[in-house]
Amino acid sequence: MNRPIRALCTFLTIITGFLLPIQRSSGASQTPSQPATSTQSVLDQEEIPRTPERLARGKYLVEGLLQCPACHSETDFSKRPSEPFSGKRLGGSIFPNSTLRLQEPNRIVAPNISSDLDYGAGRWKDADFVRALRQGIGHDGRTLFPLMPYFYFRNLSDEDLASVIVYERSSAPVHIKRPKTILSEQFKKAFQPLPPVEHVAEPDRSDRVKYGKYLVVAGHCHACHTPTDDRGTPYPDMEFAGGAPLFGPWQGGTEIRRVHSLNLTADASGISYFDEAMFINVIRNGGFPTRPLSNIMPWAYFRNLTDDDLGAIFAYLRALKPVRHHVDNTEPATYCKQCKTKHGLGSAN
Ligand code: HEC
Ligand code: HEC
Repeated sequence: MNRPIRALCTFLTIITGFLLPIQRSSGASQTPSQPATSTQSVLDQEEIPRTPERLARGKYLVEGLLQCPACHSETDFSKRPSEPFSGKRLGGSIFPNSTLRLQEPNRIVAPNISSDLDYGAGRWKDADFVRALRQGIGHDGRTLFPLMPYFYFRNLSDEDLASVIVYERSSAPVHIKRPKTILSEQFKKAFQPLPPVEHVAEPDRSDRVKYGKYLVVAGHCHACHTPTDDRGTPYPDMEFAGGAPLFGPWQGGTEIRRVHSLNLTADASGISYFDEAMFINVIRNGGFPTRPLSNIMPWAYFRNLTDDDLGAIFAYLRALKPVRHHVDNTEPATYCKQCKTKHGLGSAN
């Protein structure tokens, strides 16, 4: 395999399931893309009306389930829970190539999306956000690198997306100029924008499992918790079974750590011993006192969700097919023949 191809493959492994919904897009339930017939969408308006309800709902989503500041801000990982450095919230961040396993000339930058008029998104239109979140098209027409989870965000209802945009655009300006993303020709060719989504109705909140699925898709748990092969294709029988490696300075400073996602299914090797109360506690506190969770797991954001929403997420996780796959970050890394990487308890699989 020549080097660029291998770099691409390695990269696709690292972003793990971020690409999965492409393969899935024919499956109806995760991709509610039926075109609107009669319903007029709030997203068609030139400016989405800035109501207090949307501002509050948008805050709840952005600072919770969707974790926009986690990627779009320089973050202090030495804190538990982690948080953006003061004055830098949504002001953008550069991903070191070592964390994404990329090589020059590639450079991935989560741009400044604060309301700053010079260096942020202050002059963009609401429609620019709709295109970015649903199709992966930047304000300048570029196809966005799929680390930005638009495959997942496109499933947000029109009203939730409108709320995200209203809140996001109300953020304080951060006057920091970030460099642009650079992608090699090969990467540019590899990523295509997604077709527009006409209308996504509100989720059905009466069915807990179904509503939990809506939250799990938008919160892109799948992107980190499903292992992939060296071409970035998720292992079909290992949905949410953990093991995907994530590299970054997860304890603060510059030291790059490697942490593997864990098995979220109800198998004995997963979280069969959790109940709803334990799940809520783990998310709120960032793990157990004896086994704290790494800051790459976005518990700093998920802890802001209501008990009801966390309960619905847990109900959906419980409805997943149990998969036997031991992963444990407190154990030495050994080869796993199931997901073909080295991780704690790998040899037990
Ligand atoms: C996992 C990391 C991650 C998360 C979470 C994330 N983003 Fe992004 N986002 C990125 C990256 C990286 C880019 C730039 C991609 C590129 O330049 O090709 C981006 C690009 C964008 C763009 C396009 C900017 C432009 O140039 O037009 C917008 C808008 C955006 N993100 C908004 C959001 C919002 C709103 C949220 C939360 C709902 C969010 N992002 C969550 C990583 C992330
Ligand atoms: C950015 C990657 C990422 C995303 C997104 C993510 N997780 Fe995680 N998660 C991890 C990693 C990595 C770990 C293991 C951390 C450790 O062992 O220190 C983890 C651990 C967990 C654990 C602890 C399991 C145990 O056995 O203690 C739970 C529960 C969990 N995640 C649930 C979720 C849910 C639910 C979502 C979506 C709402 C989600 N995660 C989204 C990376 C992620």
